[in-house]
Parts: sequence; structure tokens; C-alpha cells
Amino acid sequence: MNTQYNQTLISYPINNLKGTLVISGDKSISHRAIILGSLTIGKTIITGLLEGEDVKATIGAVQKLGASVKRIAPGHYVVQGVGTGGYFQPDNVIDCGNAGTGVRLLIGAVATTPITVTFTGDSSLRSRPMGRVTEPIRQFGTKIHGRESDQLPMTVIGTHDPIPISYRLPVPSAQVKSAILLAGLNTPGQTEVIEESSTRDHTERMLKAFGAELTIENQRGAKKITLNGYAELQPQKVVVPGDPSSAAFLIAAGLLAENSTITVKNVGMNPTRTGVFKTLVEMGAQIDIEELPEQSGEPVANLTVRYSSLQGITVPPERAPTMIDEYPILAAVASIANGDTVMRGIKEMRIKETDRIHAMVKGLEECGVETTEFEDGFTVHGQGPGSISGDCTCRSYYDHRIAMSFLCLGLAARKPVKVDDGSAIATSFPEFVRSMNFCGAKVQEGGQL
Ligand code: S3P
Repeated sequence: MNTQYNQTLISYPINNLKGTLVISGDKSISHRAIILGSLTIGKTIITGLLEGEDVKATIGAVQKLGASVKRIAPGHYVVQGVGTGGYFQPDNVIDCGNAGTGVRLLIGAVATTPITVTFTGDSSLRSRPMGRVTEPIRQFGTKIHGRESDQLPMTVIGTHDPIPISYRLPVPSAQVKSAILLAGLNTPGQTEVIEESSTRDHTERMLKAFGAELTIENQRGAKKITLNGYAELQPQKVVVPGDPSSAAFLIAAGLLAENSTITVKNVGMNPTRTGVFKTLVEMGAQIDIEELPEQSGEPVANLTVRYSSLQGITVPPERAPTMIDEYPILAAVASIANGDTVMRGIKEMRIKETDRIHAMVKGLEECGVETTEFEDGFTVHGQGPGSISGDCTCRSYYDHRIAMSFLCLGLAARKPVKVDDGSAIATSFPEFVRSMNFCGAKVQEGGQL
């Protein structure tokens, strides 16, 4: 991977952000469009694809597995797939970089094809647990050998003779659900996944659009997803909506910098993703939603945020799966709310690109914000606008969302906030610095405090 470490970034206090921007493509949907396209016979045409490092790693992976992926124009790609069960034996290790979603989905996608694939990644990805995926995938009959049993590098020996499984997710995880469904595509019979809390459902929506037979039933409050095996997928035209997780940073910027009005266009509004917007509105944020026609089966809207006075709240823990990636930026915004924002039931945050609870608590302390840390979350003791001292360096732990959260917080601080390494931002939101500065922010490389 082409990873450049130690890119220090500094964000200066600024008011009055103004601007209208189109947000780049959704990362979750982009990974899935590339992988499903690679599993069809024929040409899948994708527009709006996120050109972040994570998605590029997934493109590289499916190319090594025999698919052809051509870039026609920015965000516009044509994938020529090999069909379900058609992946080739790669001639080398597949490096997924920093992409947790990419590698977890790919482990499922190769599991029921008789090839041997070794996956690796950068040091952050190599330290992340894969057991949650390998445990159900082994039940198909796949052999998996990982370092320390469930870490990358990991060799997956796909099975000739897959057995369909029925699996109840022990943790709410769209990655695990998706890995199982992808493994089920080249398996006879029916593969079932049962989830107690709804996680992002892009895989289910996209599988249906690609012609897979998939049903979703309510089972005593849980969701049962049943996929008919030996599916033949039909190539599609996929229009990737903008990423609500990236949009959340610009919306937050509009709430952190006084007198701001920012419009973010083309934001994916799948209800399994929009918990952060709901939470911000409950805190008092003025966010106008202009609904647009669906794009490739996904709801989309333009969002306009106006600087607002915010109150701390207790975020309902059951909302966590719909905003699990947005707690870092919510915590940054909560720092200038009045009163406590309590975020619990989010132990999952500890095993993301880094331990995000720890990273936020430490960085907020540096910025002069009081917090209380729990095993399953944290509370931010917001002191209102003007209370952030800044004049500090926050560690990103090579985590894109941690880096962007502190750069947004810098807008509202009395003195600048520096992030030790912002290079990971390129994994999900390469346009971040440009988008912020387009609205009037001052985020720069290097620089003195
Ligand atoms: C993702 C699912 C979530 C999320 C990740 C992307 C996906 O992870 O945190 O950034 O695209 O399926 P989990 O499935 O582990 O909750």
C-alpha cells in the first residue's frame, strides 16, 4: 500500500464556514459494489465510487482474484467479473492495507471457492481481531489459518464442498453478516443470518439488486436474512450515494464553527446509517433534510446545517449500530454542547481502526475537555462554546476518523489543534482537507501551534 505516515495537520479556530459541497462516495457501498461486480459475469458499471485507499485495496484484491476493474473517469469504474465461484487462485498475498471491511468481506467471498488466499494488511489491520468472521466462515467447511489464530496474515483455504449455515450474530456487525452472505452465494441450499439489532443493510439491498434471491423476515424482534445458494448474479449499474459517515464531519464542522451554514449534497440516508444526524438534532442542531430520489435502492438527501446551540444528551445505546463510526465526531461536537453527553453500549469502538474510546478520551483531555471513561463508552462533560483550550497535539493512532474529529474540534478551540498524523484520512475521505478549506476552514499540513 502507498501509505505515507506522519503527515501532521493543524486546524485553526475559525467562524463563519459557508459552502455547498457534494460528498464523496460511500465507503461501505463502494466495497460492496466492487466485490459484487467481481462476482457477476459481465460488466458492472459503477459511478460515484469512493477513491479512498481502502476501496483501492479492495479493487486490487479482486483484480488478483481474476476480475478486471477499469477506471473510466473519477469515480467511474467498469468491473468485469468472473461469476460466483469463479475467482482464480491468486499468485501472491493480497494486501488489504487498512481496510477492515474489505478484508472481512473478501474472506467471506473467497471461502466457498476452492482456492487458497493469504490476506495481510497494514500494522493496524494486522492487529484487529478476525475471529468474529472466521468463526462462522469455518462452519461452511473453509479452512483458515491466521497468525495468533485469528489475526492477519491469514490463509483461507476455500472449500470444494460448502455446507450452508444458519448463524445468529453474537455482536451487531454488518461486516460479519456480509461475509456470511457472500460465502453463501456459492453454497448449495439456504444460508441464514439472524441479527438482534439491525446493522447497515447495504449488502442485502445490493444482493437483491444483483438478482440474488434473498428474503428478510422478522423473527421475535430479530431480523432473519435467508439467501438462496448457487446464486447467479447479474451485472448492474450502481450509483454510489455520498457517505453519511464522511458527511458527518462537515455537518459537525457547521456546528463547531460559529455562524456557519453548510450544505452537503447527495448524502446516503439509509436508516441503518443515520443515527448521528438524529442524535445531533436531539441535541438541538438545525439540520434541514431535502429528500432526493433513491440511488441504486438507497435513500439520498441534501443536508443543510446551521450553527446551533447544543445540549448534551444520553445517546440511546440501542442506536449504536446506526452510528458506530460517528461517536468520535459526536464526541468532538459534544465538547461544545452544554452539559454531559453520555455514550455507552459502544464497546465495539474499542476494536475499530484503533481503540476509539481511548483515543477520543486522551485527545479531548489534551484539548481541555473533561471526560469520564467506561469500559463500554464515555461521557463528554461539555462546557459550551469557547470552553476548548486547544494549543495541543492529539494523536490519531493512524485512524482516519480520530484525525478528522480533532481537526473539526480545532475550529471551535481558542488556539489551534494539531493532529500528529492525518495520513489515514486518505483511507475514507481523501477530499476532507480540501472540503473543509473550501468552506472557509484553515486546515494545513505541518505548521506551528
Ligand atoms: C462496516 C461495518 C461497521 C463499520 C465499518 C464499515 C461495513 O463495522 O464500523 O466502518 O461496511 O460493513 P462492523 O460490521 O464491525 O460493525
